[in-house]
Parts: sequence; C-alpha cells; structure tokens
Amino acid sequence: MEPVTGYPYHSLQEIRDAAARMGLELPICEDLSVLGNPVRGEGFTLPNALAVHPMEGCDGEPDGKPSALTLRRYERFARGGAGLLWVEAIAVHPSYRANSRQLMINEENLPAFREMLEKTRAAAMESCGHRPVIIAQLTHSGRWSRPQNVPAPIIGWHDAVLDAHQKLPDDYPPITDQELREAVQNLARGAALCREAGFDGVDLKACHLYLYSEMLGVVDRPGPYGGPFENRIRLMLETVDAAREKVGRDYILACRMNFHDNTAGRWGNDENGQPDFTEPLQLMGELVARGERLFNITMGTPYYNPHVNRPYATGGYVPPEPPLAGVARLQSGVRAAQAAYPQVVCVGTGYSYLRGFSPYIAAGAVKEGWAKVAGFGRQSFANPNFANDILRHGGLDSKTTCLACGKCTMLMRAGSVTGCPVRDQEIYLPLYRQYIMKK
Ligand SMILES: Cc1cc2nc3c(=O)[nH]c(=O)nc-3n(C[C@H](O)[C@H](O)[C@H](O)COP(=O)(O)O)c2cc1C
Repeated sequence: MEPVTGYPYHSLQEIRDAAARMGLELPICEDLSVLGNPVRGEGFTLPNALAVHPMEGCDGEPDGKPSALTLRRYERFARGGAGLLWVEAIAVHPSYRANSRQLMINEENLPAFREMLEKTRAAAMESCGHRPVIIAQLTHSGRWSRPQNVPAPIIGWHDAVLDAHQKLPDDYPPITDQELREAVQNLARGAALCREAGFDGVDLKACHLYLYSEMLGVVDRPGPYGGPFENRIRLMLETVDAAREKVGRDYILACRMNFHDNTAGRWGNDENGQPDFTEPLQLMGELVARGERLFNITMGTPYYNPHVNRPYATGGYVPPEPPLAGVARLQSGVRAAQAAYPQVVCVGTGYSYLRGFSPYIAAGAVKEGWAKVAGFGRQSFANPNFANDILRHGGLDSKTTCLACGKCTMLMRAGSVTGCPVRDQEIYLPLYRQYIMKK
C-alpha cells in the first residue's frame, strides 16, 4: 500500500471504494439513529453510544487540580451530548506525571475534582437532560514520565527500539519490583479517591506504552513481573484486585487497553509485527472475571508510532500506510474484543481522521456489533458538540470537524496547554502562534 498525505476523501462512496481497493474491512451505516440508543452495561447505562475519549489538555494547575480551562473543556464536553465522558490521564503520584500540568488526584485536590464533576453533570443535565457516565483514567506515565517537563523515564524493562528512540543508555535502571508494588498501592488509593470525588468509575490505564501497557510486553524482564504471560499481567491484576478491595464490588473498574503495540516483538504483535490479539484477549478474560465491564480498545503509542495510535492527515512524518489502514486496524481490535466478550461494553477508537464521514463508520461499528460505543478524541477538541450534531442534527458539518492536522499534539509537545487551534481559536490560536509559529 502506498503512503498517503493530505485528506483524499470527498464522499462516503470514496471511502467505501478506497477500503475495497486496499482490502480493508470498515463497517459503514448511513442511518445514524443507532448511535442514539442507550447502552446498557452491568451496573450502568449510557444515555447514548457516543463517548469523549480521554484527551489530556495539559491544563491542570501545577499542583494537579483542574484549572478554569480544564473546567471549560469538561463543561463543553458535557453540553455536547456524549453519553460517556472518559476523563483524561490523571496521575496518582507526582513522579508519574507526563507533564507539569497533568491532573493529579490526592486528598488535597479532592474538593476541586468534586466541583469539576458537579459542574460537568449540571451542564449535561441542563443541555441534554441526561446523566453521562464519567470515568477517570488513572495513569503511571512510565517511560513517558516528564513531571517537570523534561524526560524522567521510568522504564519497565529495556527495549531496543524504544530505548534507542529515547536515547537511553544500556545501564539505565528499570523500575524495581518494590516500586511496582508501590504503584499498585498508589493506583488503588487513587481509585478510592476517584470514587470519593464522584467519578462513576476508574480506568486503570494500560495503553500507549505507558507503564502498565509497557509491562504487558516485558518478555525479557526477570522476576515476578516479567517473562511469561502470567508474570507480565501480574501488575495489572494485582492493581485491579487492590483497587477492587478499596472501591467495592459495585463500582466500575474499566480499562483502556492496547490491543497491539506495533513495535517489534511486543504486546499484541506476531513475530512479523502484525496484530495478534491472543494475549490481549486473554488478559481481557482475566479482567472480565474480576468484574470489569467497560473497555476502551486502542493501539500504538503517540511517542513512537503516532500513525498507529491516531491516524492523521498531516503529522511529524509521512505514515508508511494510508491512514485508512490505521483506522481499519483500530476497528479490528475493538471488533475482536467485543466479539470475544459480548457481555461487556467496548468503546472503539480512531474515527476522527474520517472527518464528516466518521459518524457513518461509528454507526456501522455499533450496528454491526464491532463496538457498543464509538469514542471520539481529537474530534471532541475540535467540536465538543459532536454528539449533539450527530444525534440531533443528522451529522457533522465539515466546517466543524477535526482535520487530524496534529496541531493539538504540537501544542502539547511544545509545553503549552492544548486544544484545537483551528476550531477553538479564541483560546488556542494565540497559543499556537506563541508556541509554534514564532519558533
Ligand atoms: C492531545 C491529545 C491528548 C490525548 N490524551 C490522552 C489521554 O489522556 N489518555 C488516553 O488514553 N489517550 C489520549 N489521547 C489519545 C486519544 O484518546 C485517542 O485515542 C486518539 O486521539 C485517537 O482517536 P481520534 O482519532 O478520535 O482522535 C490523546 C490524544 C491527543 C491528540
């Protein structure tokens, strides 16, 4: 397949034709009403089948409390009508932060999170008359830790590709077993705090090669947390068990999970680096057995292979495949997850690249049972009202859609707070001018 740059599609038919030409399976449904149906999970109901994905705004206060800008984002998401708001990565310890403005939950910050949730729920009720389910994503940033905005990697084990990418020396010390056990306790405590703050549930994040995701693939690590499958999933299972102990049986524990790392010899890959979902599905089985009922399936890492993680029209490099192949790969992951565990709710990822055509692939995924919910990431920055537009106004106006242009990521990488400089110009265009254009 030839790499593609720019955005080549002007009609849904062109997407259909391109997918057929490339031999890609994409679910397509022109009737969007299926996205408006409530989604029932065990112990929770989403008012519709649309979700806002976790999207870091890097706009927390230095101490990790939500700022006025954070509140603005979540109020806008809530007003926008999505039935599931999956709140961005929240650290549970200062050293786990991916940037100096990442949200952080602790005793002191609890009232601020409580206030954010109250305002978010009130906005959803006022605008849509519904109560979205709100999930907190708890993170240990692992390799990508940058608490002071300079890299401070905490690695699971050495990985030739990622170490070279990060220029880490051979003797760089990996996280110890004792530090992993501390992470278990810190994440479990974080889950209890999230419950106290009023979140409906907690995602113990295991994606994008942050620590919990990296640990799933540490085949060379000796000791209880590395090597064979049962060791590599130990950290995850111990954390789920410890969190469950603190939050009780009825609370939602969820997981945003990588189904395919797309780096050599790692999680969810076969020996040629192609997707092999055997182990992710097995881990999912263990989590389902522990009462997890909500999953969000994703792939890759934004730091090494962003074209896998979020197919784009323009970015840091020309992707080695048409972005449509990346969209289809992401769909294949959630399809496998949802088919294997039909009793749980799986959220699909990777629709934003499709711009105004994204609702038809989202509706196709839900209609065909590939996912029960379609989640939107960059699109929610560009147009937080996307769910209302799809459900009440028949679709997305091309003037409001995400262009998958990478500007939100550029802002983030430049150390700014982030959002969409193209569609949310009042706040983010001046920042884009300041941080990116001046350079
Ligand atoms: C600026 C930015 C921030 C993100 N923050 C998070 C995050 O906190 N947690 C997470 O799991 N994914 C995060 N993602 C990934 C998105 O949730 C999503 O998986 C990705 O953008 C692909 O979906 P999309 O095509 O709808 O954008 C982020 C992506 C971007 C561009």
